[in-house]
Amino acid sequence: MKHPPPLGILAELTHRCPLQCPYCSNPLALTKPVAELSTQDWMHVFDQAAALGVLQLHLSGGEPMARTDIFDLVAHAAKMGLYTNLITSAVTLDADKTRRLRDAGLDHVQISIQGVEAARADRVAGMQSAAVKKRAAMRHVTEAGLALTINAVVHRQNLDEVDALIDLALAEGAERIEIAHVQYYGWGLSNRAALLPTRAQTMETTAKVEAARQKHEGRLVIDYVVPDAYAERPKACMGGWGRQVIVVAPDGRAMPCHAADTILQLDFSNVRTRNLADIWSNDAAFNAYRGTDWMPDPCRSCVRREIDWGGCRCQALALTGDASATDPACALSPHRAALNGVEAESTALPPPFRYRKFGG
Ligand code: SF4
Ligand code: FES
Repeated sequence: MKHPPPLGILAELTHRCPLQCPYCSNPLALTKPVAELSTQDWMHVFDQAAALGVLQLHLSGGEPMARTDIFDLVAHAAKMGLYTNLITSAVTLDADKTRRLRDAGLDHVQISIQGVEAARADRVAGMQSAAVKKRAAMRHVTEAGLALTINAVVHRQNLDEVDALIDLALAEGAERIEIAHVQYYGWGLSNRAALLPTRAQTMETTAKVEAARQKHEGRLVIDYVVPDAYAERPKACMGGWGRQVIVVAPDGRAMPCHAADTILQLDFSNVRTRNLADIWSNDAAFNAYRGTDWMPDPCRSCVRREIDWGGCRCQALALTGDASATDPACALSPHRAALNGVEAESTALPPPFRYRKFGG
C-alpha cells in the first residue's frame, strides 16, 4: 500500500437529525434519506475498513440513532474488530436502546451538548427539551458501563458557561470533554456573525480551560479547539488531508474531510462502486492535498509543514476562493487579510440563527 492506513473512518450514516444546530458540520446541501447507503452497503464498508487496517469506526450523522439498523451496524462493526464510537445528540437515547447498543458491542459514546442552562441550550439546538433528554442519556450511558465523552461546541452565545460545562462533564461521570470553538465553514460560516466570540472572550476561555486542565488532571481529559480567526498558526485539519481519516457521506461518497465537497473541482469516488483501499491509495481527491508536494510558499519551505500539513483546505477555499491557497488562519499566509474585519462581527449585535435544516 502506498500510504499507511487511516486510523479511523467517520461513517455519516444519515443527515436526518432532530436538532438544527446553526454550526452543524454537515454540508449546506444535506443528503436526502432516499439516497442513503443501505444496511448491507454499510456493512460492506466496515468489512473493507477492517481489511484496510482501520482501527476506529465513528458512527455519526446527522443523528446516527435515526437509522433503525444502528444496532445491526454496531454488531457487525464489532464483529469485524473495529472500535466503535457513537457520536450522537442523544435526544432519543433511552436506557433500553443504550443497553442494546452496549450488548451489540458498542465501545464508546460521545454526546453533544449545546450548553448547560437548558432554555439557552435548547434555543441553540433548535429543539425543546433537548437539554433535559441529553442529561438523562448521559446517565444511561454511564449506567450501562460505556465510556462517555461530552462534545461541547462553544461560541459567543455560550462561552460564559465553559466552567459549568466542565462541571457538568465531571458530575455526569464523563472521562473526556471536547470543548471546540465553532469551525467556520458550511453552516458555521453562514452563522459566523451570530457565533464568533470576541478575541478577549476567546483568550479568557483559553485561560479557564488551561486552569481546569490542571485542576482536574487525572480525572477528566479536556480537549480544546481554538477558533482559527484568532490563531497565529492553523491546526492540522483532520490530522492532515488523506492521512488519518476517511469520511463516508450518507450517500457513499468517500472524502478526506466532512466539508471536502465544498471544493467543487474535486470528484469523490463512491463506496458503492469502488473499493475503500483503492480510494484511500489512488483516488485523485485523496491525493490532491496529501503530503507536502501540493503546497505553495510559504508552506513549502516552512518548518511546520509536516506538523499542521498546511491547515484546512476547506477554510482556505471559503476565505480565499482557492483551496490550495495558504490557510489564512496562518499569520504567515499572504491571504491573512481575508480575516480582516471578521473580528468586527464579534462585537456587533448577533443576528438570528440560520438553523440547519433540509433545504435551509
Ligand atoms: Fe503551517 Fe503553512 Fe503557516 Fe507554515 S506557512 S505554519 S506550514 S500554514
Ligand atoms: Fe476540509 Fe479542513 S474541513 S480540510
